[in-house]
Amino acid sequence: MTALVDRYGRVHRDLRISLTDRCSLRCTYCMPAEGVPWLKGPTLLSTEELVRLARVAVGLGVREVRLTGGEPLLRPDVVDVVRALAAIETPDGPLDLSLTTNALRLPALAAPLRDAGLDRVNISIDTLRRARFIDLTRRDRLADTLAGIEAARVVGFSPIKLNALIMRGVNDDEVADLVSFAVERGLEMRFIEHMPLDGGHTWRREEMVTAEEILAAITSRFSLEPLGHDGSAPAEKFRIAGTDATVGVIASVTRKFCDRCDRVRLTADGQFRNCLFSHEESDLRTLLRDGADDDRLAEAMIACVARKLPGHGIDDPSFVQPSRPMSAIGG
Ligand code: 5AD
Ligand code: SF4
Repeated sequence: MTALVDRYGRVHRDLRISLTDRCSLRCTYCMPAEGVPWLKGPTLLSTEELVRLARVAVGLGVREVRLTGGEPLLRPDVVDVVRALAAIETPDGPLDLSLTTNALRLPALAAPLRDAGLDRVNISIDTLRRARFIDLTRRDRLADTLAGIEAARVVGFSPIKLNALIMRGVNDDEVADLVSFAVERGLEMRFIEHMPLDGGHTWRREEMVTAEEILAAITSRFSLEPLGHDGSAPAEKFRIAGTDATVGVIASVTRKFCDRCDRVRLTADGQFRNCLFSHEESDLRTLLRDGADDDRLAEAMIACVARKLPGHGIDDPSFVQPSRPMSAIGG
């Protein structure tokens, strides 16, 4: 069978689909306050188009789909997208479907999403303090994020993971508090190293808070037992001693996991990407709208994966950040 295998033998089973580049927040590390160059409406894939591409990818071995943004819940028909993707059968059973969200719309959408077949959610929350949340996201919405987390618990998504990006002088004093918050609610807290993907190009290696520092902050309050990685998952997991709770650290920069990467990406405007950091995209939208059949679309995906580089090269002196910001690629 043909599959999405690259020159380094990596088999790609995880497809991240960005449903929109719009967002209800303006996190400073992600978007400027004003003047974001949004994708144009007609370039956005319809639900039918993106489901077709997902089916082709499943035919090439994809078994897991994660919906991202921007903020995926801003897509008006997100529940229909989930229902259509959940109906895709793979040779190994139904697709494993998950979603990364800022949770603001979960109070209204958690139940319909669960009914439509969504299995899991990852929720981004970088701070538990209202004034800081306003500084960080430029919106006064902490209460809505917290309500969204509650809504996700009530409808029974499992597991629910909370993601925080830790930045020096911004929220690096909240690491242990975030862990306590998650543990008290039976959720998994995960910390992500800051990557150079911001629209404003403000990232500095020296200023990045490393996984090692994050772990030191956690162990100031909790004692950790290493659990290693689950397969190709980027997070290194730890159990909090004496409990069932786990925490994760995603050390994309200091302990990069590119050699185990099994991810490919589809942007909301139909560009297929073999890496968050790649400088080239495969224009599946144009192919699709020009009438390509499934085999032609599959060929384009295979060719794109074949060109995948061994790693992101953030630490190389020649590293150049991709021109698309994270909000338009999908996390
Ligand atoms: N580095 C690491 N993570 C990022 N995210 C957004 N921008 C970056 C970046 N530059 C994360 C958000 C959210 C997820 C969608 O991606 O914090 O949890
Ligand atoms: Fe929105 Fe996520 Fe970017 Fe924040 S990080 S502005 S929540 S897309």
